[in-house]
Amino acid sequence: MTTEAPRPAPFAEHGQQQRYTAVAIALHWIIAFSIIGLIAVGWLMEEMDPGPDYFAIVQLHKSFGITILLLSVARIIWRLMNPPPPEPPMPGWQKFAASAVHVLFYVLIIAMPLTGWIMASASSDAPTRYFGLVDIRLPGIPALDPATREGLEEGFEQVHANLAWVIIGLLALHVAGALKHQFVDRDGLLARMAPGLFGRTAGPPDNGQGHVWAFGAAALIFAAIASFSLFSAPPNEAIAATVTEEEQQPASAAPSWTVDYGKSSLKFRASYQGDGFEGTFPDWTAQIQLDTAAAPNPDTPIGGYIRVAIPMGKVSTGEPYFDESVTQGDWFDVSKHPEAVFEVTGGVYKLSDTQYEATGVLKLKGVDHPVRLPFTLTLDGNTATARGEVTLQRLALNVGAGTPAEAKGDAEWVANEVAVVIDVTATRQ
Ligand code: HEM
Ligand code: HEM
Repeated sequence: MTTEAPRPAPFAEHGQQQRYTAVAIALHWIIAFSIIGLIAVGWLMEEMDPGPDYFAIVQLHKSFGITILLLSVARIIWRLMNPPPPEPPMPGWQKFAASAVHVLFYVLIIAMPLTGWIMASASSDAPTRYFGLVDIRLPGIPALDPATREGLEEGFEQVHANLAWVIIGLLALHVAGALKHQFVDRDGLLARMAPGLFGRTAGPPDNGQGHVWAFGAAALIFAAIASFSLFSAPPNEAIAATVTEEEQQPASAAPSWTVDYGKSSLKFRASYQGDGFEGTFPDWTAQIQLDTAAAPNPDTPIGGYIRVAIPMGKVSTGEPYFDESVTQGDWFDVSKHPEAVFEVTGGVYKLSDTQYEATGVLKLKGVDHPVRLPFTLTLDGNTATARGEVTLQRLALNVGAGTPAEAKGDAEWVANEVAVVIDVTATRQ
Protein backbone atom coordinates (compact mmCIF):
# COMPACT_ATOMS: atom_id res chain seq x y z
CA MET A 1 0.00 0.00 0.00
CA THR A 2 1.36 3.43 -0.84
CA THR A 3 -0.03 6.57 0.68
CA GLU A 4 -0.10 9.49 -1.64
CA ALA A 5 -2.31 11.44 0.77
CA PRO A 6 -1.25 15.03 1.30
CA ARG A 7 1.22 15.36 4.13
CA PRO A 8 1.29 18.27 6.54
CA ALA A 9 4.02 20.89 6.19
CA PRO A 10 6.95 20.86 6.43
CA PHE A 11 7.14 17.30 5.16
CA ALA A 12 4.86 17.85 2.20
CA GLU A 13 7.27 20.46 0.89
CA HIS A 14 10.34 18.46 1.65
CA GLY A 15 8.89 15.39 0.05
CA GLN A 16 9.17 12.20 1.93
CA GLN A 17 9.90 11.24 5.50
CA GLN A 18 13.41 10.07 6.17
CA ARG A 19 13.56 6.40 7.11
CA TYR A 20 15.62 4.61 9.72
CA THR A 21 18.83 2.84 8.67
CA ALA A 22 18.44 -0.66 7.26
CA VAL A 23 20.11 -2.13 10.36
CA ALA A 24 17.68 -0.32 12.70
CA ILE A 25 14.71 -1.44 10.63
CA ALA A 26 15.85 -5.05 10.42
CA LEU A 27 16.55 -5.23 14.17
CA HIS A 28 13.23 -3.54 15.01
CA TRP A 29 11.16 -6.09 13.12
CA ILE A 30 13.18 -9.19 13.99
CA ILE A 31 12.98 -8.30 17.69
CA ALA A 32 9.31 -7.23 17.52
CA PHE A 33 8.08 -10.42 15.83
CA SER A 34 10.30 -12.65 17.97
CA ILE A 35 9.02 -11.10 21.18
CA ILE A 36 5.42 -11.52 20.14
CA GLY A 37 6.20 -15.14 19.15
CA LEU A 38 8.07 -15.85 22.41
CA ILE A 39 5.18 -14.54 24.50
CA ALA A 40 2.75 -16.77 22.61
CA VAL A 41 5.07 -19.77 23.01
CA GLY A 42 5.62 -18.92 26.70
CA TRP A 43 1.89 -19.06 27.34
CA LEU A 44 1.58 -22.25 25.32
CA MET A 45 4.30 -23.83 27.50
CA GLU A 46 2.29 -22.99 30.60
CA GLU A 47 -0.59 -25.07 29.23
CA MET A 48 1.52 -28.09 28.31
CA ASP A 49 2.12 -31.21 30.37
CA PRO A 50 5.76 -32.15 30.87
CA GLY A 51 6.88 -34.50 28.13
CA PRO A 52 9.23 -34.50 25.14
CA ASP A 53 7.33 -31.80 23.26
CA TYR A 54 7.27 -29.56 26.30
CA PHE A 55 11.01 -29.89 26.95
CA ALA A 56 11.85 -29.34 23.28
CA ILE A 57 9.75 -26.17 23.19
CA VAL A 58 11.21 -24.80 26.43
CA GLN A 59 14.72 -25.37 25.03
CA LEU A 60 13.84 -23.50 21.83
CA HIS A 61 12.17 -20.71 23.80
CA LYS A 62 15.36 -20.26 25.82
CA SER A 63 17.66 -20.32 22.78
CA PHE A 64 15.60 -17.86 20.75
CA GLY A 65 15.18 -15.71 23.86
CA ILE A 66 18.96 -15.48 24.33
CA THR A 67 19.30 -14.58 20.65
CA ILE A 68 16.88 -11.70 21.22
CA LEU A 69 18.92 -10.55 24.20
CA LEU A 70 22.08 -10.42 22.08
CA LEU A 71 20.32 -8.66 19.21
CA SER A 72 18.88 -6.18 21.70
CA VAL A 73 22.36 -5.33 22.94
CA ALA A 74 23.42 -4.76 19.32
CA ARG A 75 20.32 -2.67 18.73
CA ILE A 76 20.88 -0.37 21.70
CA ILE A 77 24.51 0.22 20.76
CA TRP A 78 23.42 0.91 17.18
CA ARG A 79 20.77 3.37 18.42
CA LEU A 80 23.33 5.22 20.55
CA MET A 81 25.68 5.54 17.59
CA ASN A 82 22.97 6.39 15.03
CA PRO A 83 20.36 8.98 16.08
CA PRO A 84 16.88 8.40 14.57
CA PRO A 85 15.71 10.53 11.65
CA PRO A 86 14.10 13.89 12.57
CA GLU A 87 10.55 13.40 13.84
CA PRO A 88 7.45 14.72 12.11
CA PRO A 89 5.90 17.64 13.99
CA MET A 90 3.64 16.61 16.86
CA PRO A 91 2.42 18.03 20.16
CA GLY A 92 4.85 17.89 23.06
CA TRP A 93 2.85 15.34 25.03
CA GLN A 94 2.88 12.96 22.08
CA LYS A 95 6.61 13.34 21.70
CA PHE A 96 7.02 12.60 25.36
CA ALA A 97 4.66 9.61 25.31
CA ALA A 98 6.37 8.13 22.25
CA SER A 99 9.85 8.58 23.73
CA ALA A 100 8.75 7.12 27.07
CA VAL A 101 7.35 4.02 25.35
CA HIS A 102 10.54 3.65 23.30
CA VAL A 103 12.80 3.92 26.35
CA LEU A 104 10.68 1.42 28.27
CA PHE A 105 10.82 -0.92 25.28
CA TYR A 106 14.60 -0.71 25.25
CA VAL A 107 14.62 -1.61 28.94
CA LEU A 108 12.20 -4.48 28.39
CA ILE A 109 13.92 -6.10 25.43
CA ILE A 110 16.86 -6.57 27.79
CA ALA A 111 14.93 -7.24 31.02
CA MET A 112 12.56 -9.82 29.55
CA PRO A 113 15.19 -12.28 28.29
CA LEU A 114 17.47 -11.50 31.23
CA THR A 115 14.84 -12.49 33.81
CA GLY A 116 14.16 -15.70 31.86
CA TRP A 117 17.88 -16.37 31.74
CA ILE A 118 18.34 -15.87 35.48
CA MET A 119 15.37 -18.13 36.15
CA ALA A 120 16.70 -20.84 33.85
CA SER A 121 20.25 -20.55 35.23
CA ALA A 122 18.96 -20.99 38.78
CA SER A 123 16.85 -24.00 37.84
CA SER A 124 18.27 -27.47 38.20
CA ASP A 125 15.39 -28.88 36.14
CA ALA A 126 17.07 -28.98 32.76
CA PRO A 127 20.31 -27.80 31.21
CA THR A 128 20.30 -24.46 29.42
CA ARG A 129 22.26 -25.02 26.23
CA TYR A 130 22.24 -22.65 23.32
CA PHE A 131 20.46 -24.59 20.58
CA GLY A 132 21.67 -27.77 22.29
CA LEU A 133 25.32 -26.85 21.73
CA VAL A 134 26.94 -25.03 24.57
CA ASP A 135 26.02 -24.46 28.21
CA ILE A 136 25.15 -20.82 28.69
CA ARG A 137 23.90 -20.57 32.25
CA LEU A 138 24.76 -17.21 33.78
CA PRO A 139 28.11 -17.45 35.56
CA GLY A 140 27.86 -17.68 39.33
CA ILE A 141 24.22 -18.69 39.58
CA PRO A 142 24.55 -22.50 39.21
CA ALA A 143 27.16 -22.48 42.01
CA LEU A 144 24.78 -20.88 44.54
CA ASP A 145 23.30 -23.09 47.24
CA PRO A 146 20.06 -24.92 46.33
CA ALA A 147 17.79 -22.80 48.57
CA THR A 148 19.02 -19.50 47.08
CA ARG A 149 18.67 -20.93 43.59
CA GLU A 150 15.12 -22.03 44.27
CA GLY A 151 14.24 -18.55 45.58
CA LEU A 152 15.81 -16.92 42.52
CA GLU A 153 14.00 -19.26 40.18
CA GLU A 154 10.59 -18.63 41.73
CA GLY A 155 11.07 -14.87 42.06
CA PHE A 156 12.30 -14.35 38.52
CA GLU A 157 9.63 -16.65 37.10
CA GLN A 158 7.05 -14.22 38.52
CA VAL A 159 8.87 -11.20 37.12
CA HIS A 160 9.31 -12.91 33.72
CA ALA A 161 5.59 -13.72 33.54
CA ASN A 162 4.52 -10.21 34.64
CA LEU A 163 6.86 -8.39 32.26
CA ALA A 164 5.06 -10.10 29.38
CA TRP A 165 1.97 -8.11 30.36
CA VAL A 166 3.95 -4.88 30.58
CA ILE A 167 5.22 -5.51 27.02
CA ILE A 168 1.69 -6.15 25.81
CA GLY A 169 0.43 -2.92 27.41
CA LEU A 170 3.25 -0.90 25.82
CA LEU A 171 2.72 -2.62 22.50
CA ALA A 172 -0.93 -1.56 22.50
CA LEU A 173 0.11 2.09 23.06
CA HIS A 174 2.93 1.84 20.53
CA VAL A 175 0.79 0.34 17.77
CA ALA A 176 -2.08 2.73 18.51
CA GLY A 177 0.37 5.64 18.19
CA ALA A 178 1.81 4.32 14.94
CA LEU A 179 -1.67 3.82 13.47
CA LYS A 180 -2.80 7.29 14.56
CA HIS A 181 0.18 8.83 12.75
CA GLN A 182 -0.50 6.72 9.71
CA PHE A 183 -4.22 7.07 9.33
CA VAL A 184 -5.20 10.21 11.28
CA ASP A 185 -2.19 12.50 11.00
CA ARG A 186 -1.15 10.95 7.68
CA ASP A 187 2.40 12.04 8.27
CA GLY A 188 4.02 8.92 6.85
CA LEU A 189 5.58 7.92 10.17
CA LEU A 190 4.99 4.20 9.73
CA ALA A 191 6.98 4.24 6.51
CA ARG A 192 10.05 5.38 8.46
CA MET A 193 10.15 1.93 10.04
CA ALA A 194 8.36 -0.02 7.28
CA PRO A 195 9.47 1.65 4.06
CA GLY A 196 7.92 0.32 0.89
CA LEU A 197 4.94 -1.12 2.69
CA PHE A 198 3.59 2.21 3.88
CA GLY A 199 4.80 4.69 1.33
CA ARG A 200 7.93 6.17 -0.13
CA THR A 201 10.67 7.46 2.09
CA ALA A 202 13.89 9.36 1.73
CA GLY A 203 16.97 7.28 2.48
CA PRO A 204 19.00 7.93 5.61
CA PRO A 205 22.04 10.18 5.00
CA ASP A 206 24.28 7.12 5.11
CA ASN A 207 24.08 3.46 6.05
CA GLY A 208 24.96 4.23 9.61
CA GLN A 209 28.07 3.52 11.58
CA GLY A 210 29.16 1.13 14.28
CA HIS A 211 28.38 -2.28 12.75
CA VAL A 212 31.47 -3.71 14.36
CA TRP A 213 30.77 -2.18 17.76
CA ALA A 214 27.13 -3.24 17.88
CA PHE A 215 27.44 -6.79 16.59
CA GLY A 216 30.94 -7.29 17.93
CA ALA A 217 29.76 -6.47 21.46
CA ALA A 218 26.87 -8.94 21.18
CA ALA A 219 29.22 -11.65 19.87
CA LEU A 220 31.74 -10.92 22.62
CA ILE A 221 29.12 -11.19 25.35
CA PHE A 222 28.03 -14.53 23.95
CA ALA A 223 31.60 -15.79 23.66
CA ALA A 224 32.38 -14.66 27.21
CA ILE A 225 29.35 -16.41 28.73
CA ALA A 226 29.86 -19.57 26.70
CA SER A 227 33.55 -19.85 27.51
CA PHE A 228 33.04 -18.90 31.15
CA SER A 229 30.47 -21.68 31.50
CA LEU A 230 32.70 -24.10 29.65
CA PHE A 231 35.68 -23.48 31.87
CA SER A 232 34.08 -22.83 35.25
CA ALA A 233 31.09 -25.20 35.26
CA PRO A 234 31.73 -28.53 36.94
CA PRO A 235 34.11 -30.15 34.46
CA ASN A 236 31.70 -32.95 33.66
CA GLU A 237 29.24 -30.42 32.29
CA ALA A 238 31.85 -28.77 30.16
CA ILE A 239 32.76 -32.13 28.75
CA ALA A 240 29.16 -33.08 28.17
CA ALA A 241 28.72 -29.90 26.18
CA THR A 242 31.72 -30.28 23.95
CA VAL A 243 32.54 -33.91 23.30
CA THR A 244 30.57 -36.88 22.12
CA GLU A 245 29.40 -39.45 24.61
CA GLU A 246 31.99 -42.01 23.57
CA GLU A 247 34.81 -39.63 24.35
CA GLN A 248 33.41 -38.62 27.69
CA GLN A 249 35.81 -38.98 30.59
CA PRO A 250 35.27 -38.01 34.19
CA ALA A 251 37.26 -34.91 35.04
CA SER A 252 36.48 -34.20 38.66
CA ALA A 253 39.40 -34.18 41.08
CA ALA A 254 37.51 -36.57 43.40
CA PRO A 255 38.73 -40.20 43.71
CA SER A 256 37.53 -42.64 41.05
CA TRP A 257 35.70 -45.84 41.89
CA THR A 258 35.68 -49.10 39.95
CA VAL A 259 32.34 -50.85 39.92
CA ASP A 260 32.21 -54.58 40.63
CA TYR A 261 29.42 -55.44 38.19
CA GLY A 262 29.15 -58.99 39.54
CA LYS A 263 28.03 -57.59 42.89
CA SER A 264 26.04 -54.64 41.54
CA SER A 265 22.64 -54.35 39.91
CA LEU A 266 20.25 -51.91 38.28
CA LYS A 267 16.60 -52.85 38.65
CA PHE A 268 13.15 -51.39 38.33
CA ARG A 269 9.92 -52.31 40.09
CA ALA A 270 6.59 -51.69 38.42
CA SER A 271 3.15 -53.22 38.44
CA TYR A 272 1.12 -54.77 35.64
CA GLN A 273 -2.67 -55.06 36.16
CA GLY A 274 -2.02 -54.40 39.84
CA ASP A 275 0.59 -57.17 40.24
CA GLY A 276 4.12 -56.08 41.03
CA PHE A 277 7.04 -57.25 38.90
CA GLU A 278 10.74 -56.54 38.78
CA GLY A 279 13.00 -55.96 35.80
CA THR A 280 16.78 -55.87 35.49
CA PHE A 281 19.03 -54.03 33.09
CA PRO A 282 21.97 -56.41 32.75
CA ASP A 283 24.40 -54.29 30.73
CA TRP A 284 24.80 -50.90 32.36
CA THR A 285 28.12 -49.22 33.01
CA ALA A 286 28.95 -46.45 35.45
CA GLN A 287 31.71 -43.88 35.82
CA ILE A 288 31.92 -42.79 39.42
CA GLN A 289 34.05 -40.21 41.13
CA LEU A 290 33.21 -39.33 44.69
CA ASP A 291 34.95 -37.67 47.57
CA THR A 292 33.49 -39.79 50.39
CA ALA A 293 35.89 -38.19 52.88
CA ALA A 294 34.21 -34.78 52.53
CA ALA A 295 32.32 -33.40 55.53
CA PRO A 296 28.50 -33.60 55.29
CA ASN A 297 26.97 -30.31 54.11
CA PRO A 298 23.46 -30.10 52.65
CA ASP A 299 24.16 -26.79 50.94
CA THR A 300 27.36 -27.33 49.00
CA PRO A 301 28.06 -30.23 46.68
CA ILE A 302 31.06 -32.42 47.38
CA GLY A 303 33.56 -33.35 44.69
CA GLY A 304 32.02 -35.97 42.48
CA TYR A 305 30.74 -37.07 39.15
CA ILE A 306 28.49 -39.98 38.27
CA ARG A 307 27.42 -41.14 34.88
CA VAL A 308 25.43 -44.31 34.35
CA ALA A 309 24.86 -45.51 30.78
CA ILE A 310 22.09 -48.04 30.27
CA PRO A 311 21.68 -49.88 26.96
CA MET A 312 17.90 -50.17 26.79
CA GLY A 313 17.73 -53.06 24.33
CA LYS A 314 18.32 -55.71 27.01
CA VAL A 315 15.79 -55.94 29.80
CA SER A 316 15.03 -59.00 31.81
CA THR A 317 11.75 -59.32 33.71
CA GLY A 318 11.45 -63.09 33.73
CA GLU A 319 8.57 -62.72 31.25
CA PRO A 320 9.81 -62.92 27.63
CA TYR A 321 6.74 -61.11 26.25
CA PHE A 322 7.46 -58.11 28.46
CA ASP A 323 11.18 -58.19 27.71
CA GLU A 324 10.50 -57.79 24.04
CA SER A 325 7.56 -55.43 24.06
CA VAL A 326 9.09 -53.02 26.54
CA THR A 327 11.97 -52.29 24.17
CA GLN A 328 9.62 -51.30 21.36
CA GLY A 329 6.97 -48.86 20.21
CA ASP A 330 5.97 -46.19 22.66
CA TRP A 331 7.85 -47.89 25.53
CA PHE A 332 11.66 -47.64 25.20
CA ASP A 333 11.74 -47.43 21.39
CA VAL A 334 15.34 -48.73 21.32
CA SER A 335 15.69 -48.66 17.55
CA LYS A 336 15.72 -44.86 17.85
CA HIS A 337 17.03 -44.50 21.40
CA PRO A 338 19.34 -47.40 22.23
CA GLU A 339 20.75 -45.90 25.40
CA ALA A 340 19.55 -44.02 28.47
CA VAL A 341 22.02 -42.00 30.53
CA PHE A 342 21.86 -40.65 34.03
CA GLU A 343 24.47 -37.97 34.56
CA VAL A 344 25.18 -35.77 37.53
CA THR A 345 24.91 -32.16 36.39
CA GLY A 346 23.86 -30.42 39.59
CA GLY A 347 26.40 -31.94 41.99
CA VAL A 348 26.43 -34.65 44.64
CA TYR A 349 25.40 -33.59 48.15
CA LYS A 350 26.54 -35.38 51.27
CA LEU A 351 23.67 -35.04 53.73
CA SER A 352 25.07 -37.17 56.56
CA ASP A 353 27.86 -39.72 56.99
CA THR A 354 25.90 -42.27 54.96
CA GLN A 355 23.21 -40.27 53.12
CA TYR A 356 23.95 -38.68 49.76
CA GLU A 357 21.95 -37.13 46.96
CA ALA A 358 23.02 -36.95 43.33
CA THR A 359 21.26 -34.28 41.30
CA GLY A 360 21.38 -34.67 37.58
CA VAL A 361 19.63 -35.43 34.39
CA LEU A 362 18.20 -38.65 33.04
CA LYS A 363 18.41 -38.67 29.28
CA LEU A 364 15.71 -41.02 28.12
CA LYS A 365 14.39 -41.30 24.55
CA GLY A 366 16.37 -38.23 23.62
CA VAL A 367 14.87 -36.00 26.32
CA ASP A 368 16.54 -34.70 29.49
CA HIS A 369 14.57 -35.14 32.71
CA PRO A 370 15.75 -33.72 36.02
CA VAL A 371 16.31 -36.46 38.59
CA ARG A 372 17.41 -36.41 42.22
CA LEU A 373 18.82 -39.75 43.25
CA PRO A 374 19.13 -40.21 47.01
CA PHE A 375 21.46 -43.00 48.05
CA THR A 376 23.05 -44.48 51.14
CA LEU A 377 26.72 -45.37 51.09
CA THR A 378 28.72 -47.43 53.54
CA LEU A 379 32.44 -47.82 53.45
CA ASP A 380 34.56 -50.79 54.36
CA GLY A 381 38.18 -49.82 53.78
CA ASN A 382 38.43 -49.04 50.11
CA THR A 383 35.17 -50.74 49.20
CA ALA A 384 31.89 -48.89 49.13
CA THR A 385 28.41 -50.32 48.91
CA ALA A 386 25.76 -47.89 47.81
CA ARG A 387 22.03 -48.25 47.34
CA GLY A 388 19.89 -45.66 45.66
CA GLU A 389 16.22 -45.62 44.84
CA VAL A 390 14.11 -43.13 42.95
CA THR A 391 10.47 -43.31 41.92
CA LEU A 392 9.74 -42.05 38.42
CA GLN A 393 6.43 -41.40 36.68
CA ARG A 394 6.62 -43.36 33.46
CA LEU A 395 4.01 -41.19 31.70
CA ALA A 396 5.95 -38.00 32.43
CA LEU A 397 8.96 -39.74 30.87
CA ASN A 398 6.90 -40.58 27.78
CA VAL A 399 7.22 -44.31 28.44
CA GLY A 400 4.24 -46.42 27.39
CA ALA A 401 2.09 -43.36 26.73
CA GLY A 402 -0.58 -45.49 25.02
CA THR A 403 -1.09 -47.81 28.00
CA PRO A 404 -3.38 -46.62 30.80
CA ALA A 405 -1.94 -46.21 34.27
CA GLU A 406 -4.99 -47.60 36.03
CA ALA A 407 -7.77 -50.13 35.43
CA LYS A 408 -10.09 -49.02 32.63
CA GLY A 409 -12.55 -51.63 31.35
CA ASP A 410 -10.67 -54.57 29.85
CA ALA A 411 -7.63 -52.58 28.78
CA GLU A 412 -4.21 -53.75 29.95
CA TRP A 413 -2.72 -51.28 32.39
CA VAL A 414 0.64 -50.57 33.95
CA ALA A 415 1.01 -48.34 37.01
CA ASN A 416 2.49 -44.91 36.45
CA GLU A 417 4.99 -45.17 39.32
CA VAL A 418 8.16 -47.08 38.56
CA ALA A 419 10.82 -47.45 41.23
CA VAL A 420 14.39 -47.60 39.96
CA VAL A 421 16.82 -49.25 42.35
CA ILE A 422 20.56 -49.23 41.96
CA ASP A 423 22.91 -51.32 44.11
CA VAL A 424 26.58 -50.66 43.59
CA THR A 425 29.69 -52.21 45.05
CA ALA A 426 32.83 -50.35 44.05
CA THR A 427 36.44 -50.01 45.09
CA ARG A 428 38.43 -46.83 45.34
CA GLN A 429 41.30 -46.57 42.88
C1 HEM B 1 7.25 -5.94 20.95
C2 HEM B 1 7.30 -5.37 19.79
C3 HEM B 1 7.93 -4.02 19.50
C4 HEM B 1 8.97 -3.39 20.12
C5 HEM B 1 9.80 -3.90 21.31
C6 HEM B 1 9.18 -2.13 19.45
C7 HEM B 1 10.13 -1.21 19.82
C8 HEM B 1 10.34 0.01 19.18
C9 HEM B 1 11.29 1.01 19.58
C10 HEM B 1 12.22 0.87 20.80
C11 HEM B 1 11.22 2.03 18.72
C12 HEM B 1 12.03 3.32 18.75
C13 HEM B 1 13.13 3.37 17.76
C14 HEM B 1 14.01 4.58 18.06
O1 HEM B 1 13.73 5.66 17.55
O2 HEM B 1 14.94 4.41 18.83
C15 HEM B 1 10.23 1.69 17.74
C16 HEM B 1 9.87 2.47 16.67
C17 HEM B 1 8.82 2.19 15.84
N1 HEM B 1 7.98 1.09 15.90
FE1 HEM B 1 8.12 -0.44 17.15
N2 HEM B 1 8.26 -2.01 18.43
C18 HEM B 1 7.49 -3.14 18.44
C19 HEM B 1 6.44 -3.44 17.61
C20 HEM B 1 5.98 -2.60 16.62
C21 HEM B 1 4.84 -2.84 15.79
C22 HEM B 1 3.94 -4.11 15.85
C23 HEM B 1 4.71 -1.80 14.96
C24 HEM B 1 3.64 -1.62 13.90
C25 HEM B 1 2.70 -0.78 13.97
C26 HEM B 1 5.79 -0.86 15.25
C27 HEM B 1 6.03 0.33 14.61
C28 HEM B 1 7.06 1.20 14.90
C29 HEM B 1 7.30 2.43 14.17
C30 HEM B 1 6.52 2.95 12.98
C31 HEM B 1 8.41 3.04 14.75
C32 HEM B 1 9.08 4.36 14.32
C33 HEM B 1 8.62 5.47 15.14
C34 HEM B 1 9.32 6.74 14.71
O3 HEM B 1 9.49 6.94 13.52
O4 HEM B 1 9.69 7.52 15.58
N3 HEM B 1 6.53 -1.39 16.27
N4 HEM B 1 9.69 0.46 18.05
C1 HEM C 1 12.33 -11.62 24.78
C2 HEM C 1 12.43 -12.80 25.19
C3 HEM C 1 11.40 -13.60 25.96
C4 HEM C 1 10.03 -13.49 26.04
C5 HEM C 1 9.14 -12.47 25.37
C6 HEM C 1 9.58 -14.55 26.92
C7 HEM C 1 8.24 -14.77 27.27
C8 HEM C 1 7.81 -15.76 28.14
C9 HEM C 1 6.44 -15.94 28.59
C10 HEM C 1 5.25 -15.07 28.20
C11 HEM C 1 6.41 -17.02 29.41
C12 HEM C 1 5.19 -17.59 30.13
C13 HEM C 1 5.16 -17.02 31.52
C14 HEM C 1 3.94 -17.40 32.33
O1 HEM C 1 2.83 -17.05 31.94
O2 HEM C 1 4.12 -18.04 33.38
C15 HEM C 1 7.75 -17.52 29.51
C16 HEM C 1 8.14 -18.62 30.26
C17 HEM C 1 9.44 -19.05 30.38
N1 HEM C 1 10.55 -18.49 29.80
FE1 HEM C 1 10.60 -16.89 28.61
N2 HEM C 1 10.66 -15.27 27.36
C18 HEM C 1 11.78 -14.72 26.79
C19 HEM C 1 13.09 -15.13 26.97
C20 HEM C 1 13.47 -16.21 27.77
C21 HEM C 1 14.85 -16.62 27.99
C22 HEM C 1 16.08 -15.94 27.38
C23 HEM C 1 14.80 -17.69 28.81
C24 HEM C 1 15.94 -18.53 29.37
C25 HEM C 1 17.16 -18.58 28.94
C26 HEM C 1 13.40 -17.96 29.10
C27 HEM C 1 12.96 -19.00 29.89
C28 HEM C 1 11.65 -19.23 30.20
C29 HEM C 1 11.22 -20.33 31.05
C30 HEM C 1 12.14 -21.39 31.69
C31 HEM C 1 9.84 -20.22 31.16
C32 HEM C 1 8.92 -21.09 31.99
C33 HEM C 1 8.60 -22.37 31.31
C34 HEM C 1 7.67 -23.19 32.18
O3 HEM C 1 8.01 -23.43 33.34
O4 HEM C 1 6.63 -23.57 31.69
N3 HEM C 1 12.62 -17.03 28.46
N4 HEM C 1 8.59 -16.74 28.73
